[in-house]
Amino acid sequence: MSSSTLITNIATLVTNDPSLGNGTPLGLVRDAAVVIDGDRIGWTGGTSKAPATDNRVDAGGRTVLPGFVDSHSHLLFAGDRTEEFAARMSGRPYTAGGIRTTVAATRAATDAELEAHLTRYLSEALRQGTTTMETKSGYGLTVADESRALALAARHTDEVTYLGAHVVAPEYADDPAAYVDLVTGEMLDACAPHARWIDVFCERGAFDGDQARAILTAGRARGLHPRVHANQLSYGPGVQLAVELDAAAADHCTHLTDADVDALAHSRTVATLLPGAEFSTRAAWPDARRLLDAGATVALSTDCNPGSSFTSSVPFCVALAVRDMGMTPDEAVWAATAGGAAALRRTDVGRLTPGARADLTLLDAPSHVHLAYRPGVPLVAGVWRRGVRVV
Ligand code: NIG
Ligand code: FE
Repeated sequence: MSSSTLITNIATLVTNDPSLGNGTPLGLVRDAAVVIDGDRIGWTGGTSKAPATDNRVDAGGRTVLPGFVDSHSHLLFAGDRTEEFAARMSGRPYTAGGIRTTVAATRAATDAELEAHLTRYLSEALRQGTTTMETKSGYGLTVADESRALALAARHTDEVTYLGAHVVAPEYADDPAAYVDLVTGEMLDACAPHARWIDVFCERGAFDGDQARAILTAGRARGLHPRVHANQLSYGPGVQLAVELDAAAADHCTHLTDADVDALAHSRTVATLLPGAEFSTRAAWPDARRLLDAGATVALSTDCNPGSSFTSSVPFCVALAVRDMGMTPDEAVWAATAGGAAALRRTDVGRLTPGARADLTLLDAPSHVHLAYRPGVPLVAGVWRRGVRVV
């Protein structure tokens, strides 16, 4: 039998089970304890009622919450874009044109270099409390480069996304229709076995609504589930398309009409907000308050990539969302845990209730509010993944 561990003396426990604690979505329990049974949560409740276990960890009056679920990142890349970032901070606007710089560096990298990059950022994220991380291709844009990126990703995470439709590959600049044929044909054949999701950057200068629909529909026919880079740089059809196709998530959602907000609010499609991108591109913030007030489900993720958002820190994104996007600390913490799980259509992560995966983050703080209250401070003091303490 696998051993059990009691984490006790938890000042604030975030369960994301609204039937527990104070009845809010975070399901907060004060003076709490958690039992880990093997790789699962066995029990949660008040310290005084905790059952006997093999092992015991004293949380020291600190906070325990579900490991963050980062549902949107781009970690299969080589090189970086320091100069582009510095130029932007002296006034040059962001365009997605820099993606091509990363494509060249990524194609030139060996498998070992790409994998080293990937594991570096996954472990950086883990140290900041992220226990589930989606990641995508999109900097290869050839059959061989996209499929090797996804095969590498699949060694390290279950949440792998095929983004051959990031931008039109440079070789196809004069014939984008032929590139869409490649993405929906030979490239899809090579990539589908390694991925769970298919994504498309639906934006002026990348793929229009019709191209995006063709790409996502082809992916769906191969068993991949859609998600969309939608309405990041301008208004457009991405969000409506995501809802039409029952995509798990419409990501970015920075430029939304009332009809877009309404469509999200009446769908299962999660609006994933990526404040690291607005921070790093000096763009206007997405309006989380508007989405939440309409009834949409909101997730918060890093979008970690070398161009528009080179952060792997969910706590940083939580702080930005609270300070600048109209979210309360409770809403932001929910969005970074249960919201991310919803954006990946997962029910086994993002909550600390019996039967859920034992993915926990221990914060050196009396409550989860400190994630926003103490921005930039390394509060993560411990991480358990599948029941094993890894930080
Ligand atoms: O999500 N929007 C498209 N893709 C990335 C940016 C990629 C890049 O600039 O390298 C994003 O922001
Ligand atoms: Fe992205």
